[in-house]
Amino acid sequence: MRRGFDGDGVIRTWESWTRDRVESLTQRHVLRSLRPVDAGGRGWSPSGVPRGASSAEVWVSGPTMRAWETGAHDLGDSADVVPANGVTLDAFAATTAATTRTSFPDGTTSRVTGTTDDDANDVHHRRLRLFSSNDYLGLGTHPRVRAAAARAAAAHGSGPRSSPLVCGYTVAHRELEKGLALLKNTEECLLFPAGFAANLGVLPSLADSADCEIFSDRLNHASIVDGCRLASLKGTKVTVYEHNDVRHLEALLTKSTKRRKLVVTDALFSVDGDFAPLRDIASLKRRLGNDSFFFVIDEAHATLVCGKTGGGAAEMLLKDLKTENDSEDLSYLVDVHVGTLSKAFGSHGGFACCSRSLKSLLLSSSRTQIFSTALPAPCVAAATEALRVAGGYHTGVTDAESEENVDEGVSLRARLWRHVERLRDGLQLKPLLHGGRVLNDEISSPIACVAYGSEAHALKASAVLLNRGLHAPAIRPPTVPLGTSRVRLALSAAHSDTDIDALVEALTTIAEPRL
Ligand SMILES: Cc1ncc(COP(=O)(O)O)c(C=O)c1O
Repeated sequence: MRRGFDGDGVIRTWESWTRDRVESLTQRHVLRSLRPVDAGGRGWSPSGVPRGASSAEVWVSGPTMRAWETGAHDLGDSADVVPANGVTLDAFAATTAATTRTSFPDGTTSRVTGTTDDDANDVHHRRLRLFSSNDYLGLGTHPRVRAAAARAAAAHGSGPRSSPLVCGYTVAHRELEKGLALLKNTEECLLFPAGFAANLGVLPSLADSADCEIFSDRLNHASIVDGCRLASLKGTKVTVYEHNDVRHLEALLTKSTKRRKLVVTDALFSVDGDFAPLRDIASLKRRLGNDSFFFVIDEAHATLVCGKTGGGAAEMLLKDLKTENDSEDLSYLVDVHVGTLSKAFGSHGGFACCSRSLKSLLLSSSRTQIFSTALPAPCVAAATEALRVAGGYHTGVTDAESEENVDEGVSLRARLWRHVERLRDGLQLKPLLHGGRVLNDEISSPIACVAYGSEAHALKASAVLLNRGLHAPAIRPPTVPLGTSRVRLALSAAHSDTDIDALVEALTTIAEPRL
């Protein structure tokens, strides 16, 4: 018998292996689900105009809501369940305001029915305020950003045709690259299909042989970890330093005998919400010599969010924040600024800002750039418009409209950071829901975590918030190590003060353990 090629036997082997794996994930409370939400706008303004979608809000059907609350596994099927009364959303839209409670087949009801009120739920869906979105400035639903994406789709179509090196790169891609390079104060910028793809492309292109060593923070994002893994396939040594521990980093760097060294870190850590000690790492580089290591930072969560002009954590920590002892602008010591267009830009895609010569190299060596399709025109147009809105200064345009743009970026960032303060003050020194505690003791960015430890506790806490119409997911392994599960809260300029207060109230008034 040909072992391994016996059709039935092979299928059974894989099926039973898959079932066992799923069962094991279920037992450990780490089986993931897809929860289909409806991000479209709902309701009517007092003048009868349909309200547009909001970056801080989605609508969830009764069946999906039930699956979410009970933790039932869902592969998206809950979206397919038809509401009992058979009223379609279009029909509902035509009737404008409905006023009765509506039952779903699973026994749940919508609590408030469609009215012109901002807080209304519609007959099929429950409204959730999102504390889980990375759309930090609310640009994903900004009228100008949406209009730019729609115009680009109408003018250029949806598909980018091919990879950038073939015929997928357009003048619009070039304009966006130039704007991003200005934002980051670098010579050049190269676009990637996503932020994940940027790290997967950049790191193995730079660290490509046995005479290289990468030094990577223990809590770096998965895309950096995987980029390091690809680099190690080319012979590069990968060394992990303790989270934000610059002394440890220095000790490892000075011990290393490798010719080319590279330090890579998240600038604003995606899960914990703390900043990397960029100034200390840059000072270390200044002390050891500019050639001592190549410095790569991932600004996925900080671009447009931090810094006077939205340049990111590098702008905030290396340029804006000057101390008495060290007032020098150290931003020149960063060699590559990796970023994403999928968070504060409210679009999709990734980029790496760097020198002109490095761009030439990346263009010919980054496999995720070479062998993947270019960004679609609507994404490019949305990101370019987001850049104009939140940093008009960077478009190089100096007319009155641009001045207005600068103000909008500045005011959106100011509003976001006021929310950070409001949440910090609200949670300070208060007992938190189900014995949670604020991670890192203090909230220092628009990302905050309430630590629970056990996966089950984090899930329960997230469910309690959900029950109040507040969506904040439980972050569990493998995203974080086993036993360090938490609820992650992400703030946006699209939130209102009332949203932040509702979150504070939900986290602080149910202190009695019910788990
Ligand atoms: C630090 C960091 N880098 C990269 C990425 C990936 O970006 P994208 O979602 O554009 O692939 C993320 C997003 O989750 C991130 O948090």
